[in-house]
Amino acid sequence: MTRTGSPAARYDRIGHGYARTRREDPAVKARLVAALGDARSVLNVGAGTGSYEPADRLVIPLEPSSVMAAQRPANSLPALRATAHAIPLHDDSVDAAMTILSLHHWDGHQEQGVREMCRVARDRVVILTIDPEVSVRMWLMADYLHEVAALDARTCPLPAEIAEWIGNARVEIMPISRGTPDWTLMSFWAHPERVLNADARAATSGFARQSSEVVNRVVCDVRRDLESGAWDERHGHLRSQSEFDAGLRLIVRDVSR
Ligand SMILES: C[S@@+](CC[C@H](N)C(=O)[O-])C[C@H]1O[C@@H](n2cnc3c(N)ncnc32)[C@H](O)[C@@H]1O
Repeated sequence: MTRTGSPAARYDRIGHGYARTRREDPAVKARLVAALGDARSVLNVGAGTGSYEPADRLVIPLEPSSVMAAQRPANSLPALRATAHAIPLHDDSVDAAMTILSLHHWDGHQEQGVREMCRVARDRVVILTIDPEVSVRMWLMADYLHEVAALDARTCPLPAEIAEWIGNARVEIMPISRGTPDWTLMSFWAHPERVLNADARAATSGFARQSSEVVNRVVCDVRRDLESGAWDERHGHLRSQSEFDAGLRLIVRDVSR
């Protein structure tokens, strides 16, 4: 049973239907696989439904939410039911540890979680996360959904801070393509109409963590501005752009300790 406030609780509440709109992006996956290098064993922290797990390595998924774990492919290993800040593995027991768009959910335990990843991984640590100083500039957060800008500022550590926890890590920009099949909130940069799609909204924690009053306000405002042409007047240049830096950052430790 899920306890309110436990790490499993959020995704047991909002994770239903995640696999429908949150499918892996091949370009992002290629960058992640390159960052994993020759690692043969990979711990995936906050593994969710299994997106971005390389099929040709031994992947150990760690996932606290039953709703997310239940959407994993039948042929994957059963997920370790644990959390990032207390990884139930010995020191140096895997070649690499990765975490994809999960770190901002490790409330109050982010540094500890990253240090745990460094403890269990012999070599590589690969983190895909959000830079809150960049995500705030996207039209959705800047013009309509200030609540998510505030949430990101509270829950997303700066990449430089994460790199400092890891020591000897590099930070790379991960642009988001117009056609990405992983409909994160950041993917809305190219698709304002997606704000009007309840399934698309529900599979993003940014919308799913807001009250219905906030969601209704944003939907009404975006619909009004699409119908009047105000959105296209302000942001229409994005309609012909193929990719955009919405704040996604890849942080990689790739040297043996
Ligand atoms: C946005 S989903 C990302 C899932 C997957 N990595 C992907 O890219 O599709 C965030 C995941 O982090 C998990 N999570 C939340 N809190 C966690 C914690 N403290 N430790 C580990 N995972 C956590 C959630 O249950 C959820 O599955």
